[in-house]
Amino acid sequence: MGRHLEQSIVLIGFMGVGKTSVGKSLAEKLNWKFIDTDEEIEKELNLPATEIFRTFGEKVFRAKEKEVIERISHEKNKVISVGGGAFLQKEVRAICLENCTVVLLDLSWDHWLDRLPLIIETRPVLHNRSLDDIQQLYEERKSTYNYHHVKVDIDERSIEEAVDQIMNDLT
Ligand code: S3P
Repeated sequence: MGRHLEQSIVLIGFMGVGKTSVGKSLAEKLNWKFIDTDEEIEKELNLPATEIFRTFGEKVFRAKEKEVIERISHEKNKVISVGGGAFLQKEVRAICLENCTVVLLDLSWDHWLDRLPLIIETRPVLHNRSLDDIQQLYEERKSTYNYHHVKVDIDERSIEEAVDQIMNDLT
């Protein structure tokens, strides 16, 4: 087993790039468990993410996100998909980089734009923003994704190809 596979894998990247689809497929291939931290947060607070943002605000969501990630990152044999804003928090970056192998799914703005209509409704961070604002957010988030061990360019890759690339890079 490659050194990297002794630790759980954390998938990072901008919202809607496919962390969940790639993560589920990767977990299946490794025979590991898949965990989506957004789902964990929603379960623990018993509310959809959009409602958590609306009712309690982003600060409460981020605090819970950090708590969930801190706990899960210590577990073995997990593929963990974290929200696109998780790495805004310095402590979250440090926890993930120390305990897990962090894999960035990198999708260019042009490719990402094609997905926007499919994801906007369930992403409160994108609501009430112009396209220019969203592009600015995309650019701002980029710097938080510099903290990774492995980067996979997914512009021209299917889910299966992305998974194969990750497996190649980790073993
Ligand atoms: C967020 C991304 C979402 C979710 C929440 C906030 C963000 O996760 O955590 O809506 O700030 O980028 P995905 O990246 O899985 O869409």
